[in-house]
Amino acid sequence: MENIENLKAQMLAQVQGVSDMKAWDDLRVALIGKKGQITELLKGMSSLPLEQKIEMGKKLNVLKSDIESALNDKKNELAEKELNAKLALETVDVTLPVRPEKQGRIHPVSKIYEEVVAIFGQMGFEVAEGPDIEDQFHNFNALNMPANHPARQMQDTFYIPNPKSEDFDDSFVVRTHTSPVQIRTMEAKRPPIRIIAPGRTYRSDYDATHTPMFHQVEGLVIDKNITMAHLKGCLYDFVKAFFELDDIPVRYRPSYFPFTEPSAEMDIGCLKTKTELKIGAGTDWLEILGCGMVHPNVLRAGGIDPDEYQGFAFGMGIDRLAMLKYGIPDLRTFFESDVRWLKHYGFTPMDFSSMTGGLSDNGGSLR
Ligand code: DAH
Repeated sequence: MENIENLKAQMLAQVQGVSDMKAWDDLRVALIGKKGQITELLKGMSSLPLEQKIEMGKKLNVLKSDIESALNDKKNELAEKELNAKLALETVDVTLPVRPEKQGRIHPVSKIYEEVVAIFGQMGFEVAEGPDIEDQFHNFNALNMPANHPARQMQDTFYIPNPKSEDFDDSFVVRTHTSPVQIRTMEAKRPPIRIIAPGRTYRSDYDATHTPMFHQVEGLVIDKNITMAHLKGCLYDFVKAFFELDDIPVRYRPSYFPFTEPSAEMDIGCLKTKTELKIGAGTDWLEILGCGMVHPNVLRAGGIDPDEYQGFAFGMGIDRLAMLKYGIPDLRTFFESDVRWLKHYGFTPMDFSSMTGGLSDNGGSLR
């Protein structure tokens, strides 16, 4: 009896003395493992007379469960200690200055993307997305460009064979514009609709102002009584905010897109000299985007009754906006992954875009 009390005290002291998981596990095996001390004592009882066996059995079982629970407590204590040690090692001191050799950069395309989302976000637009690999229905047909429509030739499309069909009309495309997101949005929700859809687009084209992969942002507004005046007001507010100017001359030239009627291209006023392009002043014009009132056929394809609802849409090139706003001459350099280029034209993560804090420079720049 006294022996067992002593033994318990001894064992508990051993448990307390353990300082890491490895030692803990060794001790667990030594005490309560299959060949452990307590297990051996339990086995050793077989030679005792029955009464003593019962008494001893009880005591040893109580001892075993006390030791087990002490071991468990110890295990939890060690686990917490280990976690705390790990957390202490991984602590980040956010007040330390940025290490210049470790500065990552935000790509100008990502920057413009954020700026455009910040501007339209404040106007109440949601961001919508669609797949890069599209079917011809969403990329063309539903946008009022049936098979053999001449406008399909305007876009040098990359086609992807459909493993389930030999028919060319069933082949997929990598989307040639972000306009299919208009259709996907109409399919998914009822008006009022107010979305922008930024994303990657693809065409077989390559020179200083064209790359096979580029970025566009699409806009779509559908509601009752929407007119061209809404389109003009919305886009005027956008270009002012985007170029961070109080006023900017704009004009709309009649144009043609199959998915809008009427269609227009929007120009902004600028001054072009041999060495400089100054936006917002001067007598020259720069085309900035395509737009128009959503064609009734497009509304119908999206399941919306054109007698009840109208809308406007617009589409523009994000990379082109980046070239204009940040004076980057060659589009191809955008996608060369040259860190020297990125260091020069990129933005620090602190330069996040906000309509209230600053669009292209929020004052927190570390450049
Ligand atoms: N999808 C056109 C393109 O890639 C751009 C565009 C023009 C989109 C007019 C529109 C629009 O939504 O209304 O060239």
